Amino acid sequence: MSIISWDDFDEEEVAVTTKPTAPAPAKAVPAPTAAAPAPAAPVADAVPSPSVAALPADASALARAEAAVAHLDPAPGLEDLEMGAARVTVDEKRMINCRADLNQLVPFKYEWAWQKYLDGCANHWMPQEINMTADIALWKATDGLTPDERTIVKRNLGFFSTADSLVANNLVLAIYRLVTNPECRQYLLRQAFEEAIHTHAYQYCIQSLGMDEGEIFNMYREIPSVAKKAAWGLKYTHSLSDPTFNTGTPETDQILLRNLIAFYCVLEGIFFYCGFSQILSMGRRNKMKGVAEQFQYILRDESMHLNFGIDMINQIKIENPHLWTPEFREEVTQMILEGMTLEIEYARDTMPRGVLGMNAAMMEEYLKFIANRRLSQLGLPEQFSGVQNPFGWMSEMMDLRKEKNFFETRVTDYQVGGALSW
Ligand SMILES: [Fe+2]
Ligand SMILES: [Fe+2]
Repeated sequence: MSIISWDDFDEEEVAVTTKPTAPAPAKAVPAPTAAAPAPAAPVADAVPSPSVAALPADASALARAEAAVAHLDPAPGLEDLEMGAARVTVDEKRMINCRADLNQLVPFKYEWAWQKYLDGCANHWMPQEINMTADIALWKATDGLTPDERTIVKRNLGFFSTADSLVANNLVLAIYRLVTNPECRQYLLRQAFEEAIHTHAYQYCIQSLGMDEGEIFNMYREIPSVAKKAAWGLKYTHSLSDPTFNTGTPETDQILLRNLIAFYCVLEGIFFYCGFSQILSMGRRNKMKGVAEQFQYILRDESMHLNFGIDMINQIKIENPHLWTPEFREEVTQMILEGMTLEIEYARDTMPRGVLGMNAAMMEEYLKFIANRRLSQLGLPEQFSGVQNPFGWMSEMMDLRKEKNFFETRVTDYQVGGALSW
């Protein structure tokens, strides 16, 4: 773990930063050198306090700054920041179109959002902590993996390396300003950082394995089964990316709701599941265990993103029941089925034959099971009767509390490793 020490700072840099406030001691206190060590106490008294001694380089600039601060009127300033400047009560808080001050985190209204923020922080991890040595040897060995297994590793790193950027950009550029609740925004900020860690993890795998970065990072444009999933998600970002877009009418509120469903329920809730189960199945077979462990950590984060998204969507529905019309419900059902269909195509493309104890037909059943689950989480009727989960082990993989130690490495509560030395 890295240790940050103040001794690391460049001395010249320190000298430059301290120059305006404490340039005097050398002149004002000529004595405390070897030449005149005697009058210790008077020397200390003679050191002028920096605030008195230091004159700014430009006195008129300081005068202008002090005048500007003196004339600052706090109330209109706060209103300019974001809505009302009064104390917030719980009753005023709303998921969307809220008129209360968004800079006041408390009093909490949506405890579930704050709890998920705390849970996300408790699950913190970094990609460099995972040992990739065995993966590098296996990837470079001529007979280490079958061609079908290699395709799975490459396609999934290709899809995920850009998918998490799409999710992060959608969060920050589209969703964040329209979700008008501070405890939800607190989670969105945590999620945005986790998406950065995921992109970092994929890059870390790609670099460790010495892959062709141009090939992998361009799959979302060049490989049809990857490109179609990215394009499907991007169209929902585009509808919100106009900086003048705002919610407040049933139509615009539905546009936001559509985006949330597309990203949380389809991108993070369906599009990730074929790839996650393929890579984790590889890890369970003692292959590419470092990559698999990275994916296991990511899957845990993602299952929390999904659950947060479902709670957020359902809370918006509760507060705005007029948005959840029969037509809109039909449209949402179709979105889930479109996502499932694209993911089945991806499964067929990445698994032309059986591999790792799974095949495209089993994945199809798994994805129907997942689609049913997403529909029922949104309060919509399931579309496939009698489907079972063929990969029961996947739910163990994403359970944060039940530690299974599949990979015989540290998959447990994260311990903060940084230290600061004074
Ligand atoms: Fe992610
Ligand atoms: Fe995510």
